[in-house]
Amino acid sequence: MENSIVQIKAEALESVAVAADIEQIKSLSVKYLGRKGLVTLFLRNISQLPVNERPEAGKQANITKKKLESAFEKAIADFEAKTKDDEFNAIDVSLPGRPSSAGTLHPITHITRRICSIFSRMGFDIAEGPEIETDYYNFEALNIPKNHPARDMQDTFYVSDNIVLRTHTSPIQVHIMEQNAPPIRIVAPGKVYRCDSDLTHTPMFNQVEGLLVDEHVSFGDLKGVLEAFVHEIFDEQISLRFRPSFFPFTEPSAEVDILCVMCRGKGCKVCSQTGWLEVLGCGMVHPAVFENAGYDTTRYSGFAFGMGVERLAMLKYGINDLRMFFESDYRFLRQF
Ligand code: DAH
Repeated sequence: MENSIVQIKAEALESVAVAADIEQIKSLSVKYLGRKGLVTLFLRNISQLPVNERPEAGKQANITKKKLESAFEKAIADFEAKTKDDEFNAIDVSLPGRPSSAGTLHPITHITRRICSIFSRMGFDIAEGPEIETDYYNFEALNIPKNHPARDMQDTFYVSDNIVLRTHTSPIQVHIMEQNAPPIRIVAPGKVYRCDSDLTHTPMFNQVEGLLVDEHVSFGDLKGVLEAFVHEIFDEQISLRFRPSFFPFTEPSAEVDILCVMCRGKGCKVCSQTGWLEVLGCGMVHPAVFENAGYDTTRYSGFAFGMGVERLAMLKYGINDLRMFFESDYRFLRQF
């Protein structure tokens, strides 16, 4: 009888050692320690042994029971630990993560900020103005007379007889001068509206306006500032020229051209065979504009400039279709 409990123990321990998983150990536990388990039955049958064998058999049976209990427990714990290890090892911690893709700035926002930051490093403040303007601010105060072609219904969105969607950012100049005494140094980015829509025109586009007013401001200052700007935004080597032009609110007026980025001056479709590309308009503020703002024209002079942001972005990034900026095509936008 004693032999049989020793045998049961040996057998049980052997089975535990070769068990393949937790389930097998649990069934071993039932087989040996369950209500009808071999060890349980052995204990129950001790009373049938000869009296002198009972104490030793009972002792061996209890030792076996404890031994098996702890062997099953340990085997289960070992399996659990191993499963955790396997799960951990299944994760390749050296695998690079998948970055979640963040959005990018729209190229127009990007270049507007770039323009503003170049001027702000030259001491210009950033200003804003309303997109809905009175006739006075959009035209009259800027020395654009009643019969000027820019007032034509074709170009201007009229809200009512006297109210328009601003056709340029120049009216911001007037607001700034009405509210501030010289010296003035501002750039003002913003949306402008024109009743015009084809391959190269959209009814809404963006401009950046600039204004500098002080005593003794000369055309040389204008040239210096705008040359520095163009070199910064395109590149240090780019050739540029100031070409005489006309704007009602500046006198003299000029347009700044850069050497065509496509043909380097040889003449191509992009520059209409001229070899040059217009990038902005500028000039010395017209005395009539100063007078409208209440500035003393004998004491102050200044220069102003205005540029189209989409146009600049197209030249800078070599984009030939204006509509790209308005279509929100993610494949286009993510490049910036
Ligand atoms: N307002 C002009 C336009 O929309 C651009 C411009 C030209 C602005 C000359 C200026 C300037 O301030 O001096 O075409």
